[in-house]
Amino acid sequence: MKTKNKIFTLLLSTCVAFSSAQTSKFTFDLDGSTTNIKIQPTMYGIFFEDINFAADGGIYAELIKNRSFEFDEPLMGWKQQNTKTLSPNLNSGFLTIYSDNSKTNKNYARITIYNDKNYILENEGFRGIGLHQNSRYDFGFDLEKVSGNISAVNASLIDENGKIISTVPILIKGKGWQKYNAVFTPSRTVEKAKLQITFTGNGVINMDMISLFPQDTWKGRKGGLRKDLVQKLYDMQPGFLRFPGGCIVEGRTLAERYQWKKTLGNVADREYLINKWSSGFAHRLTPDYYQSFGLGFYEYFQLSEDLGAEPLPILSSGMACQFNTGELVHLEELNPYVQDALDLIEFANGDSNTKWGKIRAEMGHPKPFNMKYIGVGNEQWGEDYIERYKIFEKAIHTKYPDIKIISGSGPSPDGEFFEYGWKELKKLNAQIVDEHYYNSPEWFTKNAGRYDDYDRSGPKVFAGEYAAQSVGVVKPDNKNNWQTALSEAAFMTGLERNADVVTMTSYAPLFAHADGWQWTPDLIWFNNLQSYATPNYYVQKLFSNNKGTDLIKISENGNPVKGQNQLFASAVKDGKNNEVMIKIVNTDSQEKSIEINPKNIKLGSKLTKIILTASQLSAENNFQTENIKPLEENSVIKKGKFSVQIPSNSFVVLKIK
Ligand code: AHR
Repeated sequence: MKTKNKIFTLLLSTCVAFSSAQTSKFTFDLDGSTTNIKIQPTMYGIFFEDINFAADGGIYAELIKNRSFEFDEPLMGWKQQNTKTLSPNLNSGFLTIYSDNSKTNKNYARITIYNDKNYILENEGFRGIGLHQNSRYDFGFDLEKVSGNISAVNASLIDENGKIISTVPILIKGKGWQKYNAVFTPSRTVEKAKLQITFTGNGVINMDMISLFPQDTWKGRKGGLRKDLVQKLYDMQPGFLRFPGGCIVEGRTLAERYQWKKTLGNVADREYLINKWSSGFAHRLTPDYYQSFGLGFYEYFQLSEDLGAEPLPILSSGMACQFNTGELVHLEELNPYVQDALDLIEFANGDSNTKWGKIRAEMGHPKPFNMKYIGVGNEQWGEDYIERYKIFEKAIHTKYPDIKIISGSGPSPDGEFFEYGWKELKKLNAQIVDEHYYNSPEWFTKNAGRYDDYDRSGPKVFAGEYAAQSVGVVKPDNKNNWQTALSEAAFMTGLERNADVVTMTSYAPLFAHADGWQWTPDLIWFNNLQSYATPNYYVQKLFSNNKGTDLIKISENGNPVKGQNQLFASAVKDGKNNEVMIKIVNTDSQEKSIEINPKNIKLGSKLTKIILTASQLSAENNFQTENIKPLEENSVIKKGKFSVQIPSNSFVVLKIK
């Protein structure tokens, strides 16, 4: 045993000697004197869009797809099994869709049972139903007896092989529409279960809102949000929550734009809408992707509050997605759109005596949400956008001068539309301009100095959507690998160094269902049971958790560290914790030794070093393991200058009191 240990020690020292022989040395000056640049609390936030099953099938914890038969094909997600196959309808039963056009959520199922032994109604969930052993699930439906003697609904959860995991019989009584509830406690964990319903007795009934929710939701809210997913957002300590997108704001057509007013009130009354991303990409068609708006605008504001994030809603500017129809609202007909924006501010901030404030209070939140930002349009470009933006801006600021407006500069970070948008928005004294960039990892490292020369007297920048693409933009083979995350970290040191002009940033998109996605890469991946954080998530989290309050200078020979020798750096002070946080990114395949030379600042002796790195640039996290995650080391440093090793291809955060 002893000999073995000796050999190991020898090997280790040889390795250390080898790597230090390769280590180049650099000195960074850390100047603690004030730059007078505040890091805004909104600096690192979250972009949420219902893409990749992010809402329905994702964070909105409903497990039944098309629970109230409102999809354009009302039986999508549902299957009827007639166990006697000859002339099935007459032998067993059948389901037809009835509509009550006076309602927003108008469809319901009329089910006629001739032979209760032979009829089964089944729902497939969102790529299956995820069930955790011994957890409790609330099952419910609305039912009206029409005729006959159906006396019970027997609901079962079955596994992939059709074996029953849990059954609940529910007795049917009374006249007219009634609500029925039961609780399932599955005996096993199953990723792709199904719901099966059979009946006792024969006759005719109407059914609607067939719903299944875990009880263990975020904050235990009934009909609430998936806990593991919200927890990951909470852990980021986000400065803001942008919602609901993304192009989904705009819609493929104006009729399909996101209309926040339709997402309020009783969830059973919210009108469904086909999700724009259902047909976003030919290679990932998802015809069963709809928006139930169970996660609507009230729930959105509530989530922002839970996360401690500023709400940042984005609304349609009267232009449908310019990659789709590009439909435009005539300027003289823009008023309802502008009114939507004004009413949203009243919904969020008005007191309970106002029309919209009253609705918020009735939904359970008498206190205002204190919203400070609103976005006009998502990724619009050209004159049409500027003309419409002007009208919105005037109306919003006349009534609500303190609300900060986010305007857009189109889908690219350069080029004709981008230049035009910025030029016009500057003339209009726009407050915050949203920029989007999906590009290669090389683009991100090369652009770490992008904001160094931005005009300090113009609008602030919201880096509202960005992500490094390992293969190419919207390529289905894109991976959330370490190379992409590392390049984003390098780029983000540039965002932080320019915190006087860049005041908000967010990675996009946020979520993806492993079996239901349309767009990759994404920050957090999930299936019906689990979720995992990508390396890109940990980069975001490390920046956000260590954002500090004030920018300080870190430099090499008087220059910002923005790629020379493949090193990138930024530094902040946290006035609240009396702490300094230094972020260093090394994109080289060689370890670097950095001597930190503190000036105008007294540092304590305890150093916390958080290291995020991976064995290879192509490495990824997955459902089985999160190999790429931050590791923390504590050590004691001497007064004055101190040295730290920055491993090859790593992102390191140094924290010192
Ligand atoms: O993040 C995905 C999409 O990319 C957003 O919906 C859109 O704004 C951008 O083009």
